[in-house]
Amino acid sequence: MTKAIRPQPGIMDIAPYQGGTSHVAGLDNVVKLSSNENPLGPSEAAIEAYRRASYDLHRYPSSDHSALRTAIAEVLGLDADRIICGAGSDEVIAFLCQAYAGEGSEVIHTEHGFGMYRISALAAGATPVEVRERERVTDVDAILAACTDATRLVFIANPNNPTGTMIGAADVARLADGLPRQALLVLDGAYAEYVEGYDGGVALVESRENVVMTRTFSKLYGLGGLRVGWGYGPAHVIDVLNRVRGPFNLSNAALAAAEAAIRDTAYADHCRAENARWRSWLADALAELGVPSDVSLANFVLARFSSADEAQACDAYLKSQGLIVRMVAGYKLPNCLRITVGDESACRRIVHAVRQFKEG
Ligand SMILES: Cc1ncc(COP(=O)(O)O)c(C=O)c1O
Repeated sequence: MTKAIRPQPGIMDIAPYQGGTSHVAGLDNVVKLSSNENPLGPSEAAIEAYRRASYDLHRYPSSDHSALRTAIAEVLGLDADRIICGAGSDEVIAFLCQAYAGEGSEVIHTEHGFGMYRISALAAGATPVEVRERERVTDVDAILAACTDATRLVFIANPNNPTGTMIGAADVARLADGLPRQALLVLDGAYAEYVEGYDGGVALVESRENVVMTRTFSKLYGLGGLRVGWGYGPAHVIDVLNRVRGPFNLSNAALAAAEAAIRDTAYADHCRAENARWRSWLADALAELGVPSDVSLANFVLARFSSADEAQACDAYLKSQGLIVRMVAGYKLPNCLRITVGDESACRRIVHAVRQFKEG
C-alpha cells in the first residue's frame, strides 16, 4: 500500500469473514455441518424454476423484484411495498449500515452476535460497539445502557447465531421502545422460520417506525448458493435502502427460485418439522455424553465442552471422521462447537463420533 492510496478509515480494521469449511484433505463422504445449510436442500419447485430461468440468461433481471416481493407478501401477509430484496440478507445488512451509519456513529451488536454486523459497520466507517450477553442470551438492559447520542443501528439476531437462543416479543418491544430517537432496531430473522408460531418480528415492524427485520432464503429454504435475502420495514426506511441498492442486485434465476421456494409452504413446513425433530434428538444425545447446550430455536446446536482444548480436540477428531462443524472461538465461545442439525444420518454420525471421542 502506498501512503497516498489508502482505503477509507475502518476498512483495514475488518477481519474478513470466515465461512464454514466444506472439505477435508484426503477424505470423501464428508458431511458439512458448518454453515447452517438445509440438509434436505431446496424445494423441487425452486429447482425447476431455476432450470426454467436458464433460458433467459441473456435478459437482465427485474430491478424492482416485484414478483418475489409479491410472493413474500402474499404468503406471509405483508405489504409488498415495504419489502426490499438483497443478495443474501448480508446485503440488506450492508445497505442499512451504508445508509444509516458512518463516521462518528455507533452500531451496536451483541457479544456473540453475527460477524457481518461488525464488518458492515466498519465498511461504512462507523464504530461497532459490542454489548455483553447474559449467559449467551441477548441482554436488553445492557444494550439500552450502551446507547448514546451516536447510536444509529442496533442489530440483534432472534434466534441468535451462534448461540441458538432468542428473547421474547415483550423484551424486543421494550428494546425498540427504549432506543434513542435516532436509532433503528434491526431484527435479524435468518433463523426465524425455524421457530414454530413466530412472526419474525412482523407485528413489531408494523407497529413501530424504528424497527426493520431481515430474513433469508439461505437457511430453511435451502438456497444459500443463490444469495437471496430480504428486509421488511417502515416505508421511509425501505425508500432509503432502495436508493443505495444496485438496480440488478439479484439474478433472474435467484429471483425465480426464491419465489417458488416461498410459495412451497408444504416443503417449508416439512423442513421445519424435520429440523425440530433431529435438533432435539441431537441435543439430548450430546447432553447424555456430557456435552450440554442451551435450548436452540434454530437449525444448529451450540455444543459446550469443558474447555477450549477439549472443543478443539473434538473438532479435530470430527474432521478426521469427515464431519465438519464450526469452531466459534472468533465469537468468544472458545469452549463450544456449533453443529448444524443435519439429516438423520448426519446426526447419528455426529453422536457416534462424539461418543468415540469422549471414550478416548
Ligand atoms: C444471523 C445471521 N444473519 C444473517 C446471515 C446471512 O445470511 P445470508 O446473507 O445468506 O442471507 C446469517 C448467515 O449465516 C446469519 O447467521
